[in-house]
Amino acid sequence: NTLVSVCGRMTRTDLYIPQVSLELNPGWPNSTVPPGFDLLHVRALGGSDTLHLLLCSKGAPAVLLVHTNSTESSVQVDWAAFLSAKPAGSLRVVPESSVEYSSALVLTRLLEYDDVNNTADPQDFLPPYDLWDFSWSDLNHTLNHTLHTALLCGRDGSPSFINGSLCLDFAAFESEGREEAWPRLLHNANSSQLRVYLEDVIPRANQSRFVLELQTVSQWVSSPVNSSSVRGFTQWKPVAYRKLVPVLEDATPCRNSPPVSLSQLPTSGLVLAYFTPNALTSGLNISFGIAGNAFYNSTGFLSWTVLTGMGTPPLDSFSALVIGIMAVGLCTPLALIIVGGVYVCIRKRREQHGYQPIN
Ligand SMILES: *[C@@H]1O[C@H](CO)[C@@H](O)[C@H](O)[C@H]1NC(C)=O
Ligand SMILES: *[C@@H]1O[C@H](CO)[C@@H](O)[C@H](O)[C@H]1NC(C)=O
Ligand SMILES: *[C@@H]1O[C@H](CO)[C@@H](O)[C@H](O)[C@H]1NC(C)=O
Ligand SMILES: *[C@@H]1O[C@H](CO)[C@@H](O)[C@H](O)[C@H]1NC(C)=O
Ligand SMILES: *[C@@H]1O[C@H](CO)[C@@H](O)[C@H](O)[C@H]1NC(C)=O
Ligand SMILES: *[C@@H]1O[C@H](CO)[C@@H](O)[C@H](O)[C@H]1NC(C)=O
Ligand SMILES: *[C@@H]1O[C@H](CO)[C@@H](O)[C@H](O)[C@H]1NC(C)=O
Ligand SMILES: *[C@@H]1O[C@H](CO)[C@@H](O)[C@H](O)[C@H]1NC(C)=O
Repeated sequence: NTLVSVCGRMTRTDLYIPQVSLELNPGWPNSTVPPGFDLLHVRALGGSDTLHLLLCSKGAPAVLLVHTNSTESSVQVDWAAFLSAKPAGSLRVVPESSVEYSSALVLTRLLEYDDVNNTADPQDFLPPYDLWDFSWSDLNHTLNHTLHTALLCGRDGSPSFINGSLCLDFAAFESEGREEAWPRLLHNANSSQLRVYLEDVIPRANQSRFVLELQTVSQWVSSPVNSSSVRGFTQWKPVAYRKLVPVLEDATPCRNSPPVSLSQLPTSGLVLAYFTPNALTSGLNISFGIAGNAFYNSTGFLSWTVLTGMGTPPLDSFSALVIGIMAVGLCTPLALIIVGGVYVCIRKRREQHGYQPIN
């Protein structure tokens, strides 16, 4: 498998199954909740390291991942500063000398356009939905012995979202595996998954399609010993689903724009509190649907799943389905790897195997 041999170096030292614990609003002083958002902290303790995952909807919703080489590291929040207009430095993972790698995935904007010619070529956008201006539900989190999940749903005050919402279904894992639901991404204990879904939104145009803008932020403390090794990744299959409980027929391809470097940190409370302004920031757009596909109104539902993690990405067999990987530390600070072609793949499988699982 080519990518594995390119990526090589392992940072996590053992295959010990981590002990995962979960806390809400770490260090928040009383029994009330912070105004308008929650901060979820998932701590996965390895044999000699710790992976901290944080999910927060203050500003644009974001997942922050911090890997330390210590089993004693912890998250410290200076809540007064975190809530203030100058949150820089208010969220830290201590001891800071144990931090080896940090990254964040942020959902910044939802874009909509009227695909008048049914070409699925995003242009002439309607005013964007800025996700940092959405109001978000409380984090609804559950913990069982293998899966740690939280659901976050947001909307703005416009008529389009009267009964609609954009939801993030977050999951952290204790071991390698695959979820039951499509797209059945392979995950491991070093990663967390976000299933993003857009439900019952009233389109603002007759032939509306949607685009999701994402940004990633990353930073490592010491420069990597071997800069061709992968320190972190964001990966997805370029496929979205048009139903809540989809079968293969409900799949629709999605495409991404090339990642671009950005000079500013995204407007996420978590990112602004944790990262310094010189952190590496990049962004891309994921557009859903291709020419001739049904529009959003056909089902009023769209879901897409992305995995973000540290170390080498868990790899699905390449023949199975296309995969997009944004990798940090592979020769260049940021490399985009796209393998294969999803449309051909889905068509072929439908013709040949009906509902047979992709993987
Ligand atoms: C970096 O890692 C790659 C793959 O593991 C290896 O082939 C290469 O020699 C390494 N380079 C250095 C400078 O260590
Ligand atoms: C953790 O990493 C820091 C910085 O790279 C290093 O100084 C420290 O010795 C490491 N600690 C352990 C226990 O490996
Ligand atoms: C749609 O097609 C018409 C006729 O080909 C063309 O004039 C128009 O510019 C197209 N609109 C868009 C948004 O592509
Ligand atoms: C929103 O949901 C309510 C309750 O289900 C329903 O009565 C109403 O018609 C819906 N509004 C729109 C615009 O779909
Ligand atoms: C939607 O289509 C109808 C009928 O073709 C047209 O009258 C209306 O102006 C269109 N609405 C928008 C927002 O384009
Ligand atoms: C979706 O919108 C298109 C274009 O306006 C229309 O032809 C179609 O009937 C709508 N579909 C549904 C399910 O409302
Ligand atoms: C996403 O698309 C919008 C609309 O074209 C554009 O303004 C924005 O810069 C794009 N974002 C990225 C990260 O490419
Ligand atoms: C976590 O990542 C390290 C290195 O990237 C790897 O050795 C380890 O197997 C991974 N853990 C799991 C549970 O996949």
